[in-house]
Parts: sequence; C-alpha cells; structure tokens
Amino acid sequence: MQIALIGEAVLRIPARQVNPTEFNQPKLQQFIDDLLATMLAANGIGIAAPQVFDDRAVMIIASRASPRYPSAPQMQPLVLINPRITACSNNLDWHWEGCLSVPALRGRIERPDWVEVVYQSANGETHTQNFSGFVARIFQHEYDHLIGKTWLDRVDSSENIMAESVWRREIAKLEG
Ligand code: NI
Repeated sequence: MQIALIGEAVLRIPARQVNPTEFNQPKLQQFIDDLLATMLAANGIGIAAPQVFDDRAVMIIASRASPRYPSAPQMQPLVLINPRITACSNNLDWHWEGCLSVPALRGRIERPDWVEVVYQSANGETHTQNFSGFVARIFQHEYDHLIGKTWLDRVDSSENIMAESVWRREIAKLEG
C-alpha cells in the first residue's frame, strides 16, 4: 500500500471506530495483513491506518531492531483496533521519534513513560494492557495518527528536530 506523506489531508482526519459487524471478517483481516506488510517493507516499527489512506481506527505496534531503530527491543507485532488510553504516568520522558509519513526527519518529543490502553483485536475481543518505555512511545505515536496528529504537532522547538542521517550519526548509538 502507498504511505501518505505529511501534507496529505488524510493525516489530519481523525479515524473512525471499527464497528461490531466488521470484526472477525476476512475484509478486516486482509487489511491488517496488508498494513503489516507495508510496515515491514518500509522498515517501520509501527503504522496506523490513516498512513495508508484508510479511515479505520487500526494500528500495529511492532518494535524490533532495524536500520531505522538499531537498538529497539524485540516484540511480536500487535494489532490494536479502537484503542483508548485509560491511564498514563505523570512521569514524562524525552525520546527521538521518526515517522514513515515524515521522511528523513526525527523529532524529540516529551510523553508519558507508560500508558494503560483498552483495545480490541481483530476477533472483536477487548483487552486491557500496559505499555512502558519504548513500546509505550510507539503506541502513543501511532495513537496520534488515529486522532489526526503527527509528531510535528508535539515538537516544542525547532532545536528538537534533526535530519535522520544526523540522528543516526549522533544519537542512535546512544539511545536507539
Ligand atoms: Ni508515524
């Protein structure tokens, strides 16, 4: 699937909830399979439906070490549908983020260091799960896509924007 780049209107439109009749259907599973394949082909560690011009509240988080994130922790890809943040830490931390829709840049963003999330899986089951550290970071980044935001809306200073090539040279070896 084609990835929407910053400037595309779709990246500013909040996603719609997936409705009960859509769960457990081949159409939804096919979309998830295509979304995952698109993410993997682009060396992403997360992706959200608006990034492929789709209006459903569907995201994948899939931390793993890759050329774009050399020291990311390993996890199985996790599909989250209709996610909601039900609690988050008061404690914030800073981390550099990239985005398949904002090529060649990194932004240093302050966010809670853990979140509690309620979401549904493709079969419609509801789950409650806590994410912390780098995975919490990926979740919050992808969640932003579902509410029509990107990291550019969160960055507080141009000093916190860097070319990805500079980030790799200066920062990646320090913090991943
Ligand atoms: Ni993104």
